[in-house]
Formats: sequence, structure tokens, C-alpha cells
Amino acid sequence: MSLGLENNLENATNRLSLTDCQEEESDIVDPWNVQSRSQTGVDYDKLVERFGSSKIDEELLTRWKKVTGKDVHPLLRRGIFFSHRDMHTILNLKEQGKPFYLYTGRGPSSDAMHLGHLIPFIVSKWLQDTFDVPLVIQLTDDEKFLWKDLKVEQVIKLARENAKDIIACGFDPENTFIFSDFTFIGQCPQFYQNIVRIQKSVTFNQVKGIFGFGDSDVIGKISFPAIQAAPCLSTSFPFIFGDKKIHCLIPCAIDQDPYFRMTRDVAPRLGFSKPALLHSVFFPALQGAQTKMSASDANTAIFLTDTPKQIKNKVNKHAFSGGQATVEEHREKGGDCNVDISYQYLKFFLEDDEKLKQIKQDYTSGAMLTGELKKLLIDTVTPIVQEHQQRRAAVTEETVDKFMTPRPLRFNSK
Ligand code: TYM
Repeated sequence: MSLGLENNLENATNRLSLTDCQEEESDIVDPWNVQSRSQTGVDYDKLVERFGSSKIDEELLTRWKKVTGKDVHPLLRRGIFFSHRDMHTILNLKEQGKPFYLYTGRGPSSDAMHLGHLIPFIVSKWLQDTFDVPLVIQLTDDEKFLWKDLKVEQVIKLARENAKDIIACGFDPENTFIFSDFTFIGQCPQFYQNIVRIQKSVTFNQVKGIFGFGDSDVIGKISFPAIQAAPCLSTSFPFIFGDKKIHCLIPCAIDQDPYFRMTRDVAPRLGFSKPALLHSVFFPALQGAQTKMSASDANTAIFLTDTPKQIKNKVNKHAFSGGQATVEEHREKGGDCNVDISYQYLKFFLEDDEKLKQIKQDYTSGAMLTGELKKLLIDTVTPIVQEHQQRRAAVTEETVDKFMTPRPLRFNSK
């Protein structure tokens, strides 16, 4: 029996590695690289096909609205969350009054998070509010120690700093548990037990196929995916769920999908359901949609620590424009919103649908100039960053301790 299951997993992995071989002509999307040759960025339709996920379509959104009785979030409505796995199962659970929980995370590689990192946390908060479910947030300080030139002591500090930014997103303290791997692994034997169960279920060949690890990669990297997979198993949090096996839903950008493709293969063999996923597109770099906004390159990113002046300068200097070379030409031909970064950012952060529509019309027709569009972006994003900074400044060490203490949450499994 176990041989048959192992073969199934082997086949799934081969399929993935075969598609990965064809990547030369297409976009590169994995947890460490996002690169597209096209100015409009990654071809997300192709990615859905390649990764074998499902598109978030009108039918799903209509059902979602019906089941929850609430409007769906603009980031879903605008197709920024564009792909899912098993979201219908989650809506079935909601209809049946059965429990599930949310799981998301952050790799603390720098003390400043950027605007792109906010996206999954904004939607996680909205999901928590909409469904009133527990949320666990993993800070993979161990991952960043393994991948970056950082010391253990540094990544532990960065995890705590990042926790403050995450808390500033407004999560419910009675229903949210934030943990750093380095700390939690020593607090909760069940977490480590699940990690090792997963490690025993995946071969080196399989992680090579999924993540592209090679012979010269350190063994810590090779075994790490099990650590990001383990929070999908509810028994990793006995103080919240006891020994109940509960469904898990993960909001993240699609770069994290390889971890959860692996988990979805393993979970049923360990007696758990496959984690469901909601995938977002990437918040693009200032220089253009060929790559994602990344904390590793300061010029590509607007950080949550930036001052109004820095934001203004970065947008004016670096935000790729879809406008024409001269004002006359622009008035005549109009701009291209599909490649214009200021417009793309407004799609993420401007809440007013009508205003966004009008901006698109005006920029495309040439009535609005690039400088005007950039100013609109600066005026939209600056207060968002400033308000975040105020909320973050109000997060005390005691609040961080509270969120990061293993404890029961307001969770009542029916
Ligand atoms: P990290 O720190 O790279 O990213 C944190 C979250 O932000 C998403 N993200 C982005 N979303 C939109 N636009 C961008 N430019 C952008 N850059 C990053 C990521 O997809 C992620 O959701 N290994 C993970 C940490 C982790 C995790 C998880 C993430 C552990 N468990 C469960 C999601 C779900 C990491 O390094 O994320």
C-alpha cells in the first residue's frame, strides 16, 4: 500500500519537474525568484495551468458572497487574488457550520517590510473578520538563516520586529497566534513531531523536483519545506485545536505554492485534509512588472518605514511609466495602464472602484498625464504607510508577547 502511494507522489513530482524544464520560455516563479520577460509581468493564466490550481472566477465569488452574506474584498474582486485550491471546500464547511483555520507567514529577512508584504496580511485580516476563525502566522527565522547571510541571533530579532508590523495590520488578539520557528519548536513537541512525520514522507528526489535543490545545497534547505508544511496540520497547535484534525486555508502570493503542493501530497497520507489556498499576484517592483517588489533591492520597494519624502522621491524617480515620451504625444496616443506601475499600485490600494475606473479612462485617453497619475499614487499610498507607522508605534513588547504566547484562542470546534 505504501509503495502505491509513494508512486503517486513520485508521479506528481515528475510532472512538476517536467513543466519546470520548460520554464526557459516562460516566467520563473518560485519562493526565491519571480522573473518575467513581459512588461505586463507574469502570465498568471499560464501559471494557473502550470501549477494545476483553479482560477478565482465569477461563480466562486458569487457563491462566496451568498455563503457569507458579505461583499468580497476588493483584492478578490479585482483579480489580485486570482487563483485558489479547494476554496469551494472551505465554503462548504462554512455552510455546514464546520470549523477551519487560517495559516499564513513571513520570512523575516529584513526589519522593514514593504507594501507587497501587506497584501496577504490585509486579506488574512479580512478573512479572519469575515469567517471569525483562528489564524496562525509562521515567522520562518530558520528559513532566512539558511538562505541569507544572517546570524541566528539576527533573524530572531528580525522576526520580532516583523511581528510588530503584522500585529499593526489589526489582527484579533483573541484569535491570532504568531510564532517564530526557532522559539516555537522548543515550546511545542507536537509541532516538531509533525515536521518529522512530513520529512519521513517526502524523498530527496521529490524536493529536488519541486524546489530545484541541487547536490551542493546545504541539508538544512532540503529539510526546510517540512517546517513550512507542518502548520497545515492542526495538531501542530494542540493548545488551540487539541487533537482535532481541522481544515486549513492559506492566503499567500503564488510564489509560496511549491511548499503547499508538497503539503497537499503529504497531508492525506498523514490523515489530514489537503490545505486550501488563495493565491495573489505579485505587487510589482517600482521599475516594472517583470519582477516582484522585493526587500532585497531597496530601489524596487516602498517600505513600511519610508517617510513621505522617500515615497514621493521613489515614485517620481523609479515608478515605471506607461506614458508617452512627450506631453503632445501622450495627449494624442494616451498611456498604457497595463504596464504603468502607478496605475498597477492604485489597483491594489485605491478602494474606490469608480475613481479607479475614471483614472484608467483618463490615462488611457491621454487626458491624464504621468505626473498627475504619480501624484495620485503618492497621495493614496503615503497615508496608508503613515497610518501603518502609527499603529506599529503603538504595538508594545507586551502586545507582541501576548500574540506570540502559545494559548487557547477564541475557537469553538463544533
Ligand atoms: P515572504 O516573507 O517572502 O513573504 C511574506 C508574504 O508576502 C507575500 N509576498 C508578496 N505578495 C505580493 N507581492 C509581493 N511583491 C510579495 N512578496 C512577498 C508572500 O507570498 C508571503 O505570503 N517562506 C515564506 C514565509 C511563510 C509563509 C507561510 C508565507 C511561512 N509560512 C505560509 C505564506 C504562507 C516567506 O519567506 O514569505
